[in-house]
Amino acid sequence: MNFWLGKEITLVVGGGIAACRVLDLIRGLKTRGAGVTVVGTEAATQFVTPLTFHAISGRPFHGSLFDPSLEGGMDHIRLARETDLVIVAPATADLMAKMANGLANDLATAMLLARKGPILIAPSMNVAMWEHPATRRNVATLQADGVRFCGPESGALACGEEGMGRLAAVETIIETARRCLEPQTLSGRHFLLTAGPTREELDPVRYISNHSSGKMGWGIAQGALRAGAQVTLVHGPVNLPSIPGALAIKVTSAREMYAQVMGLWETHTATQTLDAVILTAAVADFRPVVKSPEKIKKTAATTLNVELEANPDILLEIGRRSQSLVNGKRPFLVGFAAETGSALERGREKMARKKCDILVVNDLFEEGAGFEGETNRVTLLDSAGQEEVWPLMSKDAVGARLVATIAARLHPP
Ligand code: PMT
Repeated sequence: MNFWLGKEITLVVGGGIAACRVLDLIRGLKTRGAGVTVVGTEAATQFVTPLTFHAISGRPFHGSLFDPSLEGGMDHIRLARETDLVIVAPATADLMAKMANGLANDLATAMLLARKGPILIAPSMNVAMWEHPATRRNVATLQADGVRFCGPESGALACGEEGMGRLAAVETIIETARRCLEPQTLSGRHFLLTAGPTREELDPVRYISNHSSGKMGWGIAQGALRAGAQVTLVHGPVNLPSIPGALAIKVTSAREMYAQVMGLWETHTATQTLDAVILTAAVADFRPVVKSPEKIKKTAATTLNVELEANPDILLEIGRRSQSLVNGKRPFLVGFAAETGSALERGREKMARKKCDILVVNDLFEEGAGFEGETNRVTLLDSAGQEEVWPLMSKDAVGARLVATIAARLHPP
């Protein structure tokens, strides 16, 4: 099911140079299936003409509070009500100041004041304006009013200065907009995830690793964030875009991943601020006993023997530690198992040994399952002995469904 199909977005454009970039935002929302109606301030039309907004959105541009041809002057009420989400981008310092103080002297601000539903603000301005105490006060007021923010980001600004003030990337605004519209079933919850491979170095040039891309873990993190959870993601070397809103902790080796996860476990179980632990990482089971300080030289010999030793097992240790916690305070524990044959049998054995609440089994011999690809085919085993076979789905869809399954089983906060 396409999430965006049939969704209505009202986009309020402020008068800043970043107004040019919202044309890509309109295209991005429309391509996904949403309808976009553009409302602009007088200043916005100095940067992008009403005709351009009309052409890109495919709908008339709304700029005047006193246009007699529009609903007898009630356009601002209709625009505020008949929409799923209002996005303000770019939100200038002036526009935010007016919003924070309830001013309504043009169509954009009158519409924003009449709005009862969710509003998402994507600010863009010079760094000094963003950091000014007046803007800080206005941001705090708007946040207290329940308005959501996306950005700004740090970087080179149109004025030639560097710092906070760049409009967030279009993809980030769209993802944050989606989170404003999804049911927040995991609001106030905290999920700890591992994802991707680990690398075990043999010498300064070579390492032992596996094919994990991190996509499965990314899908779960995305699903949890969309449902309103706070997400901490400890991950190995991957080539994926960062996920807005997740606290990402990069590691390389299994021992680094182990140390990070145990540190987080200790901190958050002590304060009871961890609700679920989901370990999707393909952690290398072994590492070379010795890491050569120099590149291992090629010799006349046709073989090279490398002695390996076992890495610590993160899931096994978390399963063990969680047994000492009182049930009800114990974070929900999910492990994954990548198997090649007798998958369910091995999965059941692994689940009992590592003491998880759910074990997600993917059989690498099945088409569309496992490493690297965009899809997965999984079977869920639970501690009550239940077994659930899920069809072939995108990794994002598996992530969303797994998050919903966990949400339904969490202890009440
Ligand atoms: O990243 P992708 O390309 O999207 O691929 C997804 C995936 C195939 C990596 C993922 O779906 C998956 O199956 N992850 C687990 C892979 C794995 O290492 O399975 P395992 O059977 O060896 O380990 C079982 C469980 O113990 C896993 O939860 C693993 O994270 C954990 N483990 C294993 C070894 C170890 N030293 N520490 C661990 O925590």
